[in-house]
Amino acid sequence: MLSSNRHLLPDAGKALDLACGRGASAMFMAQAGLETHAWDFSTVAIERLDKKAREHSLKIKTQVRDVVNNPPEPGSFDLILVSYFLERRLIPQLVQALRPEGMLFYQTFVKDVYLDRGPATDEWRLERNELLHLFQDLRIHYYREDGRVFSQPTELSDLAMIVASKGI
Ligand SMILES: C[S@@+](CC[C@H](N)C(=O)[O-])C[C@H]1O[C@@H](n2cnc3c(N)ncnc32)[C@H](O)[C@@H]1O
Repeated sequence: MLSSNRHLLPDAGKALDLACGRGASAMFMAQAGLETHAWDFSTVAIERLDKKAREHSLKIKTQVRDVVNNPPEPGSFDLILVSYFLERRLIPQLVQALRPEGMLFYQTFVKDVYLDRGPATDEWRLERNELLHLFQDLRIHYYREDGRVFSQPTELSDLAMIVASKGI
């Protein structure tokens, strides 16, 4: 999602990879010159990312943090990225946490499955068009949803992704 929308990344500013896991997106954003923060409640994930960032001489401000109990502060980030993590209660707080003109990148699995991957439970999968509705107060720059519509699966099958901004 980031590499195909590289042109929508801000040139500078503070970026967050929320529920970062191994932190591939955080690495990408740090390489793009953003002040990158990466949060996950898994100590193992954060330790691995710290090590990888050191190996690549990248500065990533990592934090072991439960993002549901401790979401980002209002107006605190120029970019928030969420990848393969769905906690609907957090959505209004993510919108609030964007600074004016801040960008949101969000991608995760839909319920219309084609490939055998993603969360086992439907609760953590998106309904049709749900991502669009969740971020309807933002300006949508990019939206894509690939459910069970193709004869051949691709790496985008079963995914919805959105890039949206606050007030640009
Ligand atoms: C499927 S992984 C996705 C990781 C990464 N974003 C990616 O795209 O590869 C989901 C991540 O969410 C983290 N996670 C789940 N609930 C969380 C919470 N409440 N607070 C912080 N991290 C959480 C897990 O530890 C895991 O690393």
